[in-house]
Amino acid sequence: MPDLSGKVAIVTGAGRGIGREHALALAAAGAKVVVNDLGGTLAGEGSDLSPAQQVVAEIEAAGGRATADGENVADFAGAGRMVEHAVSEFGRLDILVNNAGILRDRMLVNMSEEEWDAVITVHLKGHFAPTRHAAAHWRERSKAGEELRARVINTSSPSGVFGNVGQTNYGAAKAGIAGFTLIAAQELARYGVTVNCIAPNARTRMTEETFDMGDAPDGFDPLDPANMSPVVVALCADEAQCITGQVFHVWGGAVNALRGWTAGELFDSPERWDADKLLAGLRERFPDGAAPEGMVAGMQKAGGRSLRTAS
Ligand SMILES: NC(=O)c1ccc[n+]([C@@H]2O[C@H](COP(=O)([O-])OP(=O)(O)OC[C@H]3O[C@@H](n4cnc5c(N)ncnc54)[C@H](O)[C@@H]3O)[C@@H](O)[C@H]2O)c1
Repeated sequence: MPDLSGKVAIVTGAGRGIGREHALALAAAGAKVVVNDLGGTLAGEGSDLSPAQQVVAEIEAAGGRATADGENVADFAGAGRMVEHAVSEFGRLDILVNNAGILRDRMLVNMSEEEWDAVITVHLKGHFAPTRHAAAHWRERSKAGEELRARVINTSSPSGVFGNVGQTNYGAAKAGIAGFTLIAAQELARYGVTVNCIAPNARTRMTEETFDMGDAPDGFDPLDPANMSPVVVALCADEAQCITGQVFHVWGGAVNALRGWTAGELFDSPERWDADKLLAGLRERFPDGAAPEGMVAGMQKAGGRSLRTAS
């Protein structure tokens, strides 16, 4: 395992599920960890510091160092306090894992404004706000002459990169997080910060309350949330300095470096297209039509399977 001793990490939404595993894995690799979790329901209601405190107790029982943080990642000032918490408690920040999230699934035709706003805010602003404050901390250290090897690991979703029915709010936020990763990677490279992203798949309260997943199989469980964390630990190693702006789909032992929006079918004309001619060109090039394949087909091509048929 890469040696992360001396490094300080924040993991958001680390009181449960995938974030908890990231926090345990980073601590096992030697990092000091700020275990952030607001502790609300899956829909994002209420707050409770005890899930974060329990993870801190687990890390300390294993001989590691950690502190609990109950800030709301989507609150800009709160995200700033979370970064300050890392610095005041452990003296610095090296790693930010943006993982906190909620769900409010609904078909588009029935979705309320509130369901849209809540999910977009927690995920998209909940990635922007901590990253913005961490970036200011790193710029200050870089300008003072320090050579940094800092890390941001974001959390997208198969829903965002492949598209899942019933999740226009969540999928749009998660696609936005993939785009945010690309731009932040380019902007922060000058300070020695890499920015990558995972699109995870795991058995947590989020998926158990959404899909009929069945029980974990005997032996290796591809949907054990701990399967998501080796990618994070590897990307946090000093030796991963050259890997940035990537989105990794993770399903069990299959880690797929995805290719996102990239150049595809070119319809080229030396002058402005005539709409009739362009339409004819589209119909000729796509004789069977053109439509998204959906999330399950995308996951299968990336080395995974449907969560419903996992076990
Ligand atoms: N489980 C999967 O298969 C899967 C698939 C794709 C993406 N994801 C993403 O992985 C991340 C972790 O999800 P999970 O499955 O572990 O779910 P989870 O519900 O078990 O954990 C999410 C945690 O985030 C915390 N949280 C929510 N809003 C917060 C806020 N505003 N501030 C601070 N903490 C907050 C919750 O209290 C919770 O403990 C999420 O971003 C989710 O969208 C999960």
